Amino acid sequence: MANSPSGDSVTDRLLRVLETFTPTRTVQTAAEIGRRAGLPTSTAHRLVGELVEAGLLERDEDRRIRIGMRLWELATRSSQALRLRQAAMPSMERVQARIHEHTQLAILEQDEALFLERLSSPDSGANVTRVAGRLPLHASSSGLVLLAFGSRELQERILAAPLAPVSRETLTDAGALRRKLAEVRRLGHAIAPGYIEAVSTGAAVPIRDETGTVIAALSAVLPRDAAVDPPLVELHGAAREIAAALRDHG
Ligand code: PHB
Repeated sequence: MANSPSGDSVTDRLLRVLETFTPTRTVQTAAEIGRRAGLPTSTAHRLVGELVEAGLLERDEDRRIRIGMRLWELATRSSQALRLRQAAMPSMERVQARIHEHTQLAILEQDEALFLERLSSPDSGANVTRVAGRLPLHASSSGLVLLAFGSRELQERILAAPLAPVSRETLTDAGALRRKLAEVRRLGHAIAPGYIEAVSTGAAVPIRDETGTVIAALSAVLPRDAAVDPPLVELHGAAREIAAALRDHG
């Protein structure tokens, strides 16, 4: 890729532009994008213009910029995430209809839990999760499952880094986290009471592929003092069903 005078490639700059969009910042002006991406104004305007032309970004009547549908289309079309989500949807819908609480699907992505789907009803309680949003591995029930059944290298990397608190009850001590991960492996599920928010408890189970490798986590976000056993029975059943669907139709 051709490099700019500052030495970064076209791909670097493109990525920096796209990464200025977040789950909570979905609309920006070209100038804001440039500032947040650390690009000179003229470069930002040119790059944004080219991306709008290609459909990867879209410009509304107020000339504000959003992620374009074409980018969604290209990214979604052939991804492994889509295949997993499709295999999981029928089971997730059943779990959600039975437990009436948030039901969600996450995978490991660059040392975080990335959420592919979240099903909720209007009367479900608090939940910070967003589709295509991320949560820290050590703080969320899904993350704890992905970490506990992840590689040794992943575990040591996370345990060696500072464990940032998300709530007052997040495990921020490496020893406590190590013990929690052993518990998750022993029980076959993770319970995260108040680790993200004092008002809720996360409960998650692993989804395995045909070789037994954990490829995703299926979780429920419950009111803090709700019973966890009935949702866990539903989640375990659904995880087995999803694994079978991936095997049969994958
Ligand atoms: C969790 O999975 O532990 C979790 C996720 C989102 C919340 C609360 C808990 O809002």
